[in-house]
Amino acid sequence: MSALSREAADAVLMPTYKRYPVAFARGKGFYLYDESGRPYLDFVAGVAVTALGHAHPDVTEAIARQAGRLVHTSNLYYTEPMAQLAEALTRLLGWDDGRVFFANSGAEANECALKLVRRWMARRYGPGTKTDTIAAWGSFHGRTMATLAATGQPAKWEPFAPVPAGMVHVAYDDARALAAAVTPATAGVLLEPVQGEGGVVVPGPGYLPAVRQTCSAHGLAMMLDEVQTGLGRTGEWFGFQASGTDAVPDVLSLAKALGNGLPIGACIARGELATAFGPGDHATTVGGGPVVCAAALAVLQVIERDKLVARAKRVGDHLQRSLGRLVERHELAVSVRGKGLLVALQLGADRARDIALAALSEGLLVNDVGPAVLRFCPPLLMGEDECDEAVDILDKVLAKIEGPLP
Ligand SMILES: Cc1ncc(COP(=O)(O)O)c(C=O)c1O
Repeated sequence: MSALSREAADAVLMPTYKRYPVAFARGKGFYLYDESGRPYLDFVAGVAVTALGHAHPDVTEAIARQAGRLVHTSNLYYTEPMAQLAEALTRLLGWDDGRVFFANSGAEANECALKLVRRWMARRYGPGTKTDTIAAWGSFHGRTMATLAATGQPAKWEPFAPVPAGMVHVAYDDARALAAAVTPATAGVLLEPVQGEGGVVVPGPGYLPAVRQTCSAHGLAMMLDEVQTGLGRTGEWFGFQASGTDAVPDVLSLAKALGNGLPIGACIARGELATAFGPGDHATTVGGGPVVCAAALAVLQVIERDKLVARAKRVGDHLQRSLGRLVERHELAVSVRGKGLLVALQLGADRARDIALAALSEGLLVNDVGPAVLRFCPPLLMGEDECDEAVDILDKVLAKIEGPLP
């Protein structure tokens, strides 16, 4: 797409994104290609979505096969891929009594979780009695009105006030603050195991287990938003599994990697919550359609077959070590943090966008997840050599941006 047609696109698209100045025509593996055929090494993966990289043959084959057979029926009827995917997800979690609602995005999966918990509480205590959700400052849960209200970044929801009431925010990684915020009106807690959009914030190891204890002690629903952390990203199948069995949630939401780019979200619940909705309580016309579910089944099979969860941990550790070189060599690079292949480079100044733009012109995709934070969330297939290649490019970019050493 030429500069002119980018202008034409801007003229007809709502200006909700500050897009990078490039248009991609195709992708293969960990590379995206612009229209001139120039490759870009992809450490963004469509914001932690294309876990298997671009045009993965197994996913492409599953989509094509299913698209040629049956694309849509609505949820008025049963279809095989949806049932198989629900079975696969509950099996992965080891939740014998688990049940799944399929949505079309991460926000919708979280919206479903919030509604489910209210429905459960309404059944137990009557409607309007226990309605509140405790969430964390710095969190990101989506852009629908309720998930926006849950998002702990006031700048994102203030322009849309009033957003739905009943969201209480506390400091992230502070289990005491969370316990102190519980009131008789509290219904549940919604947290990310690692805050992704908030700048890759990894809580201490005791945090989620302590939150689990608080939820159990007060009869609250523990909802974990694993839209970004789920399906291998953090070096575990699910982010909460870093705490073994001490932080198992009641409700878990997934999206992003599940469809490797096709629109799908899943809200998974166990125990009494699994059957809290009745017919008519929640719905979607196209959610859980045969094509997206067939693609998601292929995604799960490849992650399992190719042992990508362990790989994400190994390569992620390597990436963090490799980025550490930048911290040693550049004043602007301050620290590295993350888990598995969800990694951030903290900068000492608000130059993340400048660096991402300079990296783009060198053929590397990284994104600025905050003014002074660069995020790396590549496909889980990414290897050590590509990590080193990306760090070499950033080394060059940082040297250029910092200017000649005195
Ligand atoms: C943790 C988390 N939850 C929810 C969402 C929203 O997902 P979607 O954009 O698919 O609605 C995101 C998106 O970045 C996310 O990172």
